[in-house]
Amino acid sequence: MNEWVMNTGTVMHGVFGDPIKHSKSPIMHNRAFRELGLNAAYAAFHIKPGRLKDAVAGIRAMQFRGVNVTIPHKLEVMDYLDEIHPDALAIGAVNTIVNDDGKLTGCNTDGIGYVRSLREEAGFHVAGKKVLMLGAGGAARGVAYSLAKEGAAAVYIANRTVSKAEQLAESIRPFTKSEGMGYEAIEDIRGDIDLIVHNTEVGMHPNVNEVLIDTSWFHEGLTVSDIVYNPLVTRLLREAEERGARTHGGLGMFIYQGAYAFEYWTGREAPVQAMREAVLAAF
Ligand code: ATR
Repeated sequence: MNEWVMNTGTVMHGVFGDPIKHSKSPIMHNRAFRELGLNAAYAAFHIKPGRLKDAVAGIRAMQFRGVNVTIPHKLEVMDYLDEIHPDALAIGAVNTIVNDDGKLTGCNTDGIGYVRSLREEAGFHVAGKKVLMLGAGGAARGVAYSLAKEGAAAVYIANRTVSKAEQLAESIRPFTKSEGMGYEAIEDIRGDIDLIVHNTEVGMHPNVNEVLIDTSWFHEGLTVSDIVYNPLVTRLLREAEERGARTHGGLGMFIYQGAYAFEYWTGREAPVQAMREAVLAAF
């Protein structure tokens, strides 16, 4: 039997976050490394507020090849890196660090991961489509930017705090037509929408019976996508399905943000199916 064990040549990776105990990233990436027979490993690190700078210095000192960064460190980490990819700079957050012989580059794979999962899993191609986004928080920023860069014809952003929706809409206006609004204004544009993307925590475990907007107007021909993946099928998606809309769950965004990170670190195509199996088995 040829069982892999960690050794002095193992290339190290990890994720920095607080909290981090429930992260599925180690399971996903270690499965990907094993699948391709790479001598590499990935661990979770509980980095408390105030210790991020030291932790990033540790990436250099210990020659980790790559690190994912999650809540609450995605913004602060930008201060400690050598280079920020222009997309991550525009989004204003880094979720992936690549270490090239001590030079640390920050990237953001959340938005491009989302767009890739939409294409691969729902067969939805963003170019030329009109999108309604629900929510304008941290998670929405990468999604909005990537939808705009991918060639969406229009991105409408609805949010409880309208000023945040307007700000986010303005930030992507160099790339596409965009407008911020409150939830009540959805009525005026809903006849014109191809895709709805939900980007808030409403409906997330344990509040699984919550839904953010009226879904009675959802219809066949509409695609409804939720970035929440716990539960895998949210109330929003259930109601969308009942009305004949095509649905797309949030697990794909997690898998494909990881796939891009894996590809940046290893230069190999990510074994997406195995990664998904590993994550689903860990639920
Ligand atoms: P994240 O990084 O997860 O996106 P965030 O930046 O705090 O977190 O953003 C949370 C998003 O969920 C925001 O769009 C927020 O709306 P506001 O900007 O108006 O606060 C939205 N949100 C959270 N709870 C909500 C609720 N009960 N009803 C409506 N929107 C909610």
